[in-house]
Amino acid sequence: MTVPAPRTAPPRSGRPPGPTLAASVLPADFSRLGDELRALEAAGVERVQWDVMDGRFVPNLTLGPDIVAAARPVVDMQFEAHLMVADPDPMLPRWVEAGCERVIVHAETCTHLHRTVARIAELGALPGVALNPATPLSAVEHVLDRLDLLLVMTVDPGFGGQSYLASMEPKIRAAAAMIADAGLDTDLEVDGGIDVTTAGAAARAGATVLVAGTALFRGQGSIGTRAIALRAAARQVAGERRPA
Ligand code: DX5
Repeated sequence: MTVPAPRTAPPRSGRPPGPTLAASVLPADFSRLGDELRALEAAGVERVQWDVMDGRFVPNLTLGPDIVAAARPVVDMQFEAHLMVADPDPMLPRWVEAGCERVIVHAETCTHLHRTVARIAELGALPGVALNPATPLSAVEHVLDRLDLLLVMTVDPGFGGQSYLASMEPKIRAAAAMIADAGLDTDLEVDGGIDVTTAGAAARAGATVLVAGTALFRGQGSIGTRAIALRAAARQVAGERRPA
């Protein structure tokens, strides 16, 4: 089998103002996944987050790399694999081969986090590290400069449709300060319970990427109108915070 060359993500410099949107496809209608992805792309959502769960690290089981590979030719959006699995290392190449520009591992699952992050980069993908709500920022302090993305979970991982943990905002603020103090432009992603009532607070705390599942796939209107509402909620607050 010919392994496709790793895909590269577009540079940060070309981004529109305000947080980037990533869709968690967990609540999508998988019987017509292609249509759902095309609707996300048409709505201008920049990224797809594939929630990979193994029934061990989290009490849920979701999808494998073959589904991601099947979806890859359908849209040109950036793909990130969020690995909520007990032992991510053995399968790292499969997610890159499937077409993910980013691979996110949980700090709680990596005995040798520095080595795992280096391996993801070696495979040609952008490394990200996720922290469960109870895990302190110090877990990534010594690998921060090697990360493209730091993910602060705003729910306990395992399910969509949970309530946003506002108690994570001090941690998001501290993460943003840690990134700024180190002179880095690492993305600061939040995931879980993000909707029009919480996107603003997360953006105000410093999040640069917002992951949303239920808020994009459920509720009034279409994926397009929901994405516009979500982006407006985040941008408005983000815009206000940056006076000239
Ligand atoms: C939870 C996942 C999230 C979740 C987001 O473990 O990592 O991506 O699917 O879904 P909502 O936006 O519905 O909380």
